[in-house]
Amino acid sequence: MLPFWLLSIATALVHAPFNAFNEPLSPSSFLEQFNYSSLEDSNWVVSHSQLAVRHYTGQWALQPPHKYPGFDGDNGLVLKTPSAFHGISTSLDEPFENVDTNLVLQYEVKPQSEIKCSGMYIKLLDVNYRENGEFSDVSPFQIMFGPDICGANNKVKFILNKRNVKTGITEQKHLVESSMAPTSEISALYTLILKPNSDFEIRINGQVVYTGNAVNSPQLFSPEINPPKLIDDVDGKKPADWDDEELIPDPDSEKPEDYDARYNSALVPDPNEVKPDGWLDDELEYILDPFAEKPQEWIDEEDGQWEPPIIRNPKCLVGCGKWEPLLVPNKEYKGPWIPPMIPNPNYKGKWIPHQKLNPDYYEDKTPFNLEPIGGLGFELWSIDLDILFDNIYLGHSIEEAEALGNSTFLPKLELEHAAYKESKPKPINPPAPPPKSFEEMLRDDDDLGTFQQIFIFFFLITKRELLNMKDLWYDFNRDPLNTLVEEPLKAFVYSGVALFVMTFTFGLMNVIAFMLSSWTNQIKDVVNDAKESVGEETKESVGKETKDVPKIVELDDEGKEIKEAGSSTSAKVSKTSTRRRK
Ligand SMILES: *[C@@H]1O[C@H](CO)[C@@H](O)[C@H](O)[C@H]1NC(C)=O
Repeated sequence: MLPFWLLSIATALVHAPFNAFNEPLSPSSFLEQFNYSSLEDSNWVVSHSQLAVRHYTGQWALQPPHKYPGFDGDNGLVLKTPSAFHGISTSLDEPFENVDTNLVLQYEVKPQSEIKCSGMYIKLLDVNYRENGEFSDVSPFQIMFGPDICGANNKVKFILNKRNVKTGITEQKHLVESSMAPTSEISALYTLILKPNSDFEIRINGQVVYTGNAVNSPQLFSPEINPPKLIDDVDGKKPADWDDEELIPDPDSEKPEDYDARYNSALVPDPNEVKPDGWLDDELEYILDPFAEKPQEWIDEEDGQWEPPIIRNPKCLVGCGKWEPLLVPNKEYKGPWIPPMIPNPNYKGKWIPHQKLNPDYYEDKTPFNLEPIGGLGFELWSIDLDILFDNIYLGHSIEEAEALGNSTFLPKLELEHAAYKESKPKPINPPAPPPKSFEEMLRDDDDLGTFQQIFIFFFLITKRELLNMKDLWYDFNRDPLNTLVEEPLKAFVYSGVALFVMTFTFGLMNVIAFMLSSWTNQIKDVVNDAKESVGEETKESVGKETKDVPKIVELDDEGKEIKEAGSSTSAKVSKTSTRRRK
């Protein structure tokens, strides 16, 4: 579609060549940009350990990102096997000491797909981390830091591995609360800063997202950074006769005799009811009919034992049998009897186990003074593939890490964002702005006059009410009774309005019809008048024509006009002609 040269220019604009960071760093700083042609050329060693539960079958590769790429040819360390344990590590030339200085650990993570369940953290390993074979989860480490996402769990983990100097046991101190990690497929920069005063800081993309102090706020970590000074004396047991009940039931109180009848029955006989007159206590309400007789055709062998039918006792005019009033709710009902509680005279107070000094107690005022670090490693379980790591920095300088981020991460981020935008399909027709709402019209339209605004206002109100009316009509058709019961006012008002509108419309139509009919009459009249006047004119003109017609003039024998003598012209003419015939 596009000419090739145009495509190349566009590609060249988006893709910038990769240049390694080459500003001088302090000699103790470690920087890894994965600027090698293959993993074999690097110092990174893939773990294939099968010793423990974890079998490291995950593959690693050095390659540039394929998803929203930044710089051209910018290799990163890429995790290649889905649903596998991945292990890879590198050893430092010199052990990295961190005593009474800042420690700054920084690296980039670029998930190239949606993260379902993957660790993406890095470990700072002990010097002897490979003493017992390949790098694995049992390799000792000082610090673990970075994002860990699995389903809904998303956390930037920070674990400090500290050896208890008293017990010699190493404990993993987890930062309990932490920030969430970004989940997009764009690179994210993670920075951990530990300071000699035990302040620590986590940054994401250069922004501080977590700060704390490991000594002043020991509860930030679990277990706490320093063991508690006092612990419960587990040997000091609660004495058997220790009474820690604050209240006891009053031993002197007794249940009143009538309590259950009065207070513990939910229903009682209605006290207002009396036995009606004529009630027969000793008579049965139903009896065997004493007058019934066994029918003649009844055969006991076939039909069974004959029994007279049961009838209502004719003596029971009012009622028979034991009379009982109706049961009604007991207003005095209280429920079962509970003896009143009184303070326990033998109460000795709450049992608090004795505290004793924790024999393992020690106070480490500088928990961020670490044991020497001999290497860095990724030791991860990952469901997802193609997670890319890059630009790993370990040093003592916050400025160095910032400068590195400024000149590697930030420009890369821009390119990735450009690539992201490029990848989004462009809309064929740019979306039109949505139609303005009434409020917007009122608010920001200066070119609308007050009159127009009022018109729009009433128009919209009418429109809304019409819609409401339509709804009501629909409801009414579906369930007329319910609608009327639920919305009586609406139904009343709307039917009133509808009636009014109908009346008004019919009235208007009548008026129009009347006007039309009178108008047509007028037209008829006009037409008739016109017709009449046209007729008269015709007659008149006929008359005129008669006048204009030249007179038949009698001429005498000399040709002179003979003056009219009053007789008919034709007679004169004939007379003349008779004379001429002579
Ligand atoms: C990194 O960039 C930010 C903002 O551009 C700047 O404030 C900061 O001083 C820079 N840091 C270094 C060490 O260059």
